[in-house]
Amino acid sequence: MDSRNIRLAVIPGDGIGTEVVTEGLKVLEAVGTKVETTTYDLGAKRYHETGETLPDSVLDELRGYDAILLGAVGDPSVPPGVLERDLLLKLRFQLDHYVNLRPVKLFPGVETPLGKARPEDIDMIVVREGTEGLYAGTGGVMRRGTPHEIATQESLNTAHGVERVVRYAFEKAIGRPRKKLTLVHKTNVLTYAGDLWARIFDRVGLEYPDVETDYCHVDAASMFFVSQPERFDVIVTDNLFGDILTDIGAAIAGGIGLAASGNVNPDRTAPSMFEPVHGSAPDIAGKGKADPTATILSVAMLLEHLGLAQEAARVEQAVADDLVERLTGWAGRTTHEIGDDITARVAG
Ligand code: NAI
Ligand code: MG
Repeated sequence: MDSRNIRLAVIPGDGIGTEVVTEGLKVLEAVGTKVETTTYDLGAKRYHETGETLPDSVLDELRGYDAILLGAVGDPSVPPGVLERDLLLKLRFQLDHYVNLRPVKLFPGVETPLGKARPEDIDMIVVREGTEGLYAGTGGVMRRGTPHEIATQESLNTAHGVERVVRYAFEKAIGRPRKKLTLVHKTNVLTYAGDLWARIFDRVGLEYPDVETDYCHVDAASMFFVSQPERFDVIVTDNLFGDILTDIGAAIAGGIGLAASGNVNPDRTAPSMFEPVHGSAPDIAGKGKADPTATILSVAMLLEHLGLAQEAARVEQAVADDLVERLTGWAGRTTHEIGDDITARVAG
């Protein structure tokens, strides 16, 4: 095992972000790896106090860590989009998190709205492009507020950007038992971007003869997520499609309280950032009602990314065991209690 210190930057953020991160750190400590954490107070409070979202000095400091653990940011008191764009998206873009990794996995004992689906039917991983597409921020507005307003929002796709995420997805697929990779796009309508994605997907695929490839339009994929989730193993897709599909993924795999994610810089030119898919949940913040499991699974992804595969597997197994117990013992456990129970399993 790697015995070096992990230098971890922690951004608890707002609302339940702080609550779930506390539990994630507890589990991380129980793993027994040496971790040195530094907490950053980014989020709504700092924005109100200083007007700052992500100062450049903080961004520079963050570059020096091995990884970042984020809770969630966002608060009803902050205008929508401010923290999302100036903090979250800025981190993803500046740290070149070109892979947004979102496992969609149904653990035994977890209820899914797809009544008959079994854990072996829902076990996929979505590789969402993280730095381009419709989220790149290109476009503009003219004559705002008039009946003649024009708003454009462009999808930016570069050959370099598409190829690197497609390559990552093929590598992911070849490391899994099924070795299947599905490209999800809308090539029949988004002909320029879709053509670029499809050509690169096909060309890179020639280098991976052992990976079975498939293509699915995003609307059909949305349907298959619900009707035939067993079709999918690894999926590669653009930023917007991936965002939407993975919310369906979270829903079919037991809900937002379990959905983990990683904003990954595979080239390791900057730290990767791991976070639950959910937001700051102001409706339940401060009540001890938040499920910390998504954050704990994000910690497992973080360990895996840092080359600590055994430790990651221990955390995931502890979560799996806890989830089975929930069939009988879930009712009424607080955020802390769930965190304590999973921590005890990891430690024991
Ligand atoms: P949300 O994910 O915060 O909450 C949606 C619903 O799921 C709420 O009913 C909430 O109580 C429930 N929920 C979420 N996480 C849960 C957990 N761990 N355990 C139990 N229940 C949970 O999404 P919403 O309400 O749309 O957004 C709230 C704020 O969070 C907004 O400011 C939004 O911009 C921000 N947000 C931030 C994200 C991030 O930091 N990456 C991601 C999504 C939203
Ligand atoms: Mg989303």
